[in-house]
Amino acid sequence: MPLRLRRPGTLEFRLERQKTMELKILVLPGDGIGVEVTAEAVRVLKRVAEKFGHDLRLTEGLLGGIAIHKTGTPFPPETERLAQEADATLLGAVGLPEFDNVAPEKRPERGLLALRKALGVYANLRPVKAYTALLDASPLKNDRVEGVDMIIVRELTGGIYYGTPRGISGEGATETAVNTMKYTRAEIERVCRMAFELARKRRRKVTSVDKSNVLEVSQLWRRVVTDVAKDYPDVELDHILVDNCAMQLILNPRRFDVVVTGNVFGDILSDEGAVLAGSIGMLASASVGPKRPSGAYVGLYEPVHGSAPDIAGQGKANPLAAIGSAAAMLEYSFGLAEEAAAVTGAIEKVLNSGRVTADLNPPGQPATTAEVGQAVCEAIG
Ligand code: IPM
Ligand code: MN
Repeated sequence: MPLRLRRPGTLEFRLERQKTMELKILVLPGDGIGVEVTAEAVRVLKRVAEKFGHDLRLTEGLLGGIAIHKTGTPFPPETERLAQEADATLLGAVGLPEFDNVAPEKRPERGLLALRKALGVYANLRPVKAYTALLDASPLKNDRVEGVDMIIVRELTGGIYYGTPRGISGEGATETAVNTMKYTRAEIERVCRMAFELARKRRRKVTSVDKSNVLEVSQLWRRVVTDVAKDYPDVELDHILVDNCAMQLILNPRRFDVVVTGNVFGDILSDEGAVLAGSIGMLASASVGPKRPSGAYVGLYEPVHGSAPDIAGQGKANPLAAIGSAAAMLEYSFGLAEEAAAVTGAIEKVLNSGRVTADLNPPGQPATTAEVGQAVCEAIG
């Protein structure tokens, strides 16, 4: 509880008595630029903990290509244990070009999918916001992107990413590959509820994206969303086919508030959304699952961008998506809204200052990854 004291002769003097919280966070830097962007997100978390008096307990684990190198598997049991013990997990990125021709089950990406599944984080929230300072960074005309503020809610632990049967069999002309897109009513319902709850805190509009003119999975999806909507009469629901959605995101992006969709459509549309935000280096995400007894969501926080091996280790990567993901962690997993706002406010200040990385086309010399992290810390004060 904030304690208000009044000193004679001064304005109201507000002494914040923040309850000290223990923040048990697992950091999984992963591969490529994941390492350098998570380092900056951690720097920011340390600054926040120091400023607001929280007790930061960081552990680090292996995931993805680096885990394959060190342990032979992309998701070592030790990583799973650490993730289950932590209150929240901050992830960088996974993927290395040397695994490009390797079978899917041996790839770094499989580690990430297994982690998401193990934590049960079924709803991936990907906010797409056009910051005024970045309007020129988007290849789209300013008047098209100005005011864009949406959140893509992507189902994360089902659909074609996980459906069985899957695999490649046979040889020659009959060599055949199979993947299965599958959703149960329960899986669709819980992610849609998340979308409607979010919409209530925003502009009260949910757009559900599917391909119901072709796919049975989408027909069920549409029926379930429509059923869920009955519990939210104050929220408007519309449906859009995924191909049309891809077009409307560019033609009329302000029409979207909360977008809810399945795993693979959400993956594709969120990269498109990155163009509206100026750079994929800006897109943060929060993957949330069931609530823990404390009331906090189980959470996995990761930037939407990948491991970008072409620029890894050069200090060129934009850390703001990772830092934004850390802000989302403070809010969703720890309920620290004030701390989260301090970080997002600092990000905005840094954007306005022009001290940003090359992907955002700054007027002068681009800043390095570490300089941006440092600038965010300074802006937090
Ligand atoms: C993402 C990524 C991942 C996904 C890859 C790395 C497995 O593209 O988070 O968007 O497809 O989910
Ligand atoms: Mn993706």
